[in-house]
Amino acid sequence: MAKHRRRDRKFRLTLTAVVAAAAFLPVAAAAAPSSGARPNIVGGTEASISDHPYAVYLTDKNGNQFCGGVIVSPAAVATAAHCAKAVSRAELRVVAGRQDKRTNDGRTVSVRDVWMPSGFTDPGQGDDVAVLKLSQSLPYQAANLPGDESLYAEGTKATVMGWGRTADGGARSDVLRSAVVPIVSDSSCRSSYSNYDSRSMVCAGYPQGEVDACQGDSGGPLVVGDTLIGIVSWGDGCARPGKPGVYTRVTTYADEIRSEADSSRGVFW
Ligand code: ARG
Repeated sequence: MAKHRRRDRKFRLTLTAVVAAAAFLPVAAAAAPSSGARPNIVGGTEASISDHPYAVYLTDKNGNQFCGGVIVSPAAVATAAHCAKAVSRAELRVVAGRQDKRTNDGRTVSVRDVWMPSGFTDPGQGDDVAVLKLSQSLPYQAANLPGDESLYAEGTKATVMGWGRTADGGARSDVLRSAVVPIVSDSSCRSSYSNYDSRSMVCAGYPQGEVDACQGDSGGPLVVGDTLIGIVSWGDGCARPGKPGVYTRVTTYADEIRSEADSSRGVFW
């Protein structure tokens, strides 16, 4: 086991070096960073799918990426309800194991069934979670679901990732990006957003903004280690001061996610 880990890490480092070297020339030429502009999720860095094998994205039938998602069992992906509603089930695709949208890496699978809380209306009202039951199982590591509230303590450093916009109003990323954001207290988030609901939501971000998820990242994971604590849901713009990102609070739905994910098997295998 330890031996395998070490070999994986070596491979990953080599891969990272190769990707970094390949990416460096065009990026360095294109992205002369001007005053405070951060060419990244917003304010993040390029991430490796081998570090986050549970990170997936959703496309329509033409292959256009519109949201993120996270593998929670071999044949189930959690995402935001507003993502699951955006495209009809028959046209929805999950792309897993692919770091760079421009490649054919990994797997593309269709969706057999969708679960979401019956009361969901829009992200600002909470309950922004869905489970996509896949038509095939995926050979990638699932994220863990949280057992308790301990990972939601104010200041806990969590990692958000996705293929969404790299600036407020900007273009989507071709590659997976991640950023570290601290958990914000319920009282602070309530002062940012009058409709904040501490039962169904959790906020993360810095007081000065600068680092955040953005459009196209919705449905994607907010993790501590490999434990899924949040799902990208909404925010006022992206990375604005005093306006942290709002995430679906996964502990509130963990039992339902688990039972829906467990029910997504045994039909085809
Ligand atoms: N609703 C957006 C989406 O569909 C995600 C917004 C997240 N915004 C934020 N500032 N964290 O992709």
